[in-house]
Amino acid sequence: SRSFCNRSPESNRSSSYGIAFDIDGVILLGSSPVGGSPGALRRLYDDSGMLFGALKIPFLFLTNGGGLPESERASEMSRLLGVDVSPLQVVQGHSPLRKLVNRFGNELVVAAGKGEPASVMTNYGFKNVISLDEYASYFDNIDPLAPYKKWITGQETRSRANVPSERVQAAFIVSDPVDWSRDIQVLCDILRTGGLPGKEIGPQPHLYFANDDLDYQTAFPTERLGMGAFRIALESIFNRIHAKPLEYTSFGKPNPFVFKNAEDVLKEIAASTHPHSNQGSHQFRTLYMVGDNPKIDIRGARQAGNPWFSILTRTGVFKGKDNHAEFPADLVVDSVEEAVDFILARES
Ligand code: G3P
Ligand code: MG
Repeated sequence: SRSFCNRSPESNRSSSYGIAFDIDGVILLGSSPVGGSPGALRRLYDDSGMLFGALKIPFLFLTNGGGLPESERASEMSRLLGVDVSPLQVVQGHSPLRKLVNRFGNELVVAAGKGEPASVMTNYGFKNVISLDEYASYFDNIDPLAPYKKWITGQETRSRANVPSERVQAAFIVSDPVDWSRDIQVLCDILRTGGLPGKEIGPQPHLYFANDDLDYQTAFPTERLGMGAFRIALESIFNRIHAKPLEYTSFGKPNPFVFKNAEDVLKEIAASTHPHSNQGSHQFRTLYMVGDNPKIDIRGARQAGNPWFSILTRTGVFKGKDNHAEFPADLVVDSVEEAVDFILARES
């Protein structure tokens, strides 16, 4: 069942448009497609009967999640959904971190989170990045609970000399942390000592989070704690053990620059699918954001304003019957399949 916000959609004949899809709770639950996503996406390609037809409607994935380089995530999405997803179509929470390479490209930085956080940063051009897993392995007894963590299988390879005596200049929380107790302990060590665990107290190194999602939807019936919950835990503890409050920057939706960047990337995608069009002059009349989280996806699209049109699905964090009270979407639908139906009908 659909319900509209009282903003009625204007006629969009002959307009150009693009679509940004959230991943968790819209396209996937864990690693399983949800809401008829493979079929819905296939309609955005030519030759929908064939595997990997050419892209017809410019779309991208705009997720706060991450942990893999964009090229690997694109292959993973292609495999899970049966459509050809290019790396340009994958914008993750950590994608804006690539801009910080000018500042920290040669400095020792630590990358934390599930997946391959260090590969993500190396891929963005960082030359001296080490995963928090590997970093912790250079310090004997840094985690007093390690002997009880029976699930830890292999030893990290220690490939570098002198890591413990090199000052960490920044920590990046690239994706959802796996071992919260170890990560909070080691991050507190890095942040309160000025980047030299076990040593003197110094100025806090820079700290960046790829997103600030309190929770998100997976295959479990109710929401799971996300990076924002981890940030609250780290910040609360740090502020109890350290005189100066934790300083940090968070990226990801609902920040307006994420939507601005998505618009630019969609223009690039439109130009690559229609190579004869003039990229510089390309203007979208409407950009659709299809999301499941009112506080993150819908709020972000609303703040971004024109040309964004927000569509809220009921397959993820939002499970209400009517629209969300605080951050109402332009349209509420049951699934991404219904969202694509609506968009294609409106734009035909
Ligand atoms: O860890 C992923 C989560 O915080 C959000 O992902 O795709 O719903 O923006 P998404
Ligand atoms: Mg989501």
